[in-house]
Amino acid sequence: MCEYAVYLDNISFSYEGTTVIKDLSLRVRNGEHIGIVGDSGCGKSTVLKIIAGLYEVDCGKAVIAGEKSPVKIREHIAVVMQNNSLFPLSIRDNITCGHDISEEKIWTACQNASLTEWIGSLPDGLNTNVGERGNQVSGGQAQRIQIARALCKDAPIILLDEPVSALDQDTGWSVLNAINELMKDRTVIHVTHHRETLDHSYTIYRMKGGRLSRE
Ligand SMILES: Nc1ncnc2c1ncn2[C@@H]1O[C@H](COP(=O)(O)OP(=O)(O)OP(=O)(O)O)[C@@H](O)[C@H]1O
Ligand SMILES: [Mg+2]
Repeated sequence: MCEYAVYLDNISFSYEGTTVIKDLSLRVRNGEHIGIVGDSGCGKSTVLKIIAGLYEVDCGKAVIAGEKSPVKIREHIAVVMQNNSLFPLSIRDNITCGHDISEEKIWTACQNASLTEWIGSLPDGLNTNVGERGNQVSGGQAQRIQIARALCKDAPIILLDEPVSALDQDTGWSVLNAINELMKDRTVIHVTHHRETLDHSYTIYRMKGGRLSRE
């Protein structure tokens, strides 16, 4: 196993000529918990997408779980993204992503993501289709489905982008408790505007001017 779960060295990234990430470096050891805060639009989600293997950097070096290829990187990562990232498939398929996962594990994940009551009220239960880009479920339900997906995928690296932003306060805290369970022995990078949701296990970085610095 390599020393760093996440190794970003002087990376830069632009969207159609607009530079968002500039000479950013970050080293995250296996099992470390990193919190990222910063103003809206400063590039936090973009950094997570680079780490997730969704975007390739313009220059610099990005090695995630010892891998450089985006396809390989994605095998090691579970994500809860800010914008709805559901497939137009059933709730079950959105949780399992086609992998062979036992009913027991699926239901435990649903329980921990506070989904069981809602799924129990649906005539087709887990087989209910979420619609195109999840347009037949609420933002909070979509977020909890992503969390159940992350709980089912035994990935060593977890990326969380405002994972409870669309949830009411009580559901948010109960889902955060489930996330805290998931985080044990895993590497976590958690972007949030709510610093109070980051416990003392986190090292906090602030994103500004395209870079990250320790708070
Ligand atoms: N797909 C895209 N195409 C072009 N520009 C984009 C795209 N996604 C993001 N941007 C721009 O890149 C910058 C950084 O966006 P990003 O989503 O990473 O910010 P953020 O820090 O996550 O913000 P927030 O806290 O509001 O979620 C913003 O100026 C945004 O408008
Ligand atoms: Mg964002």
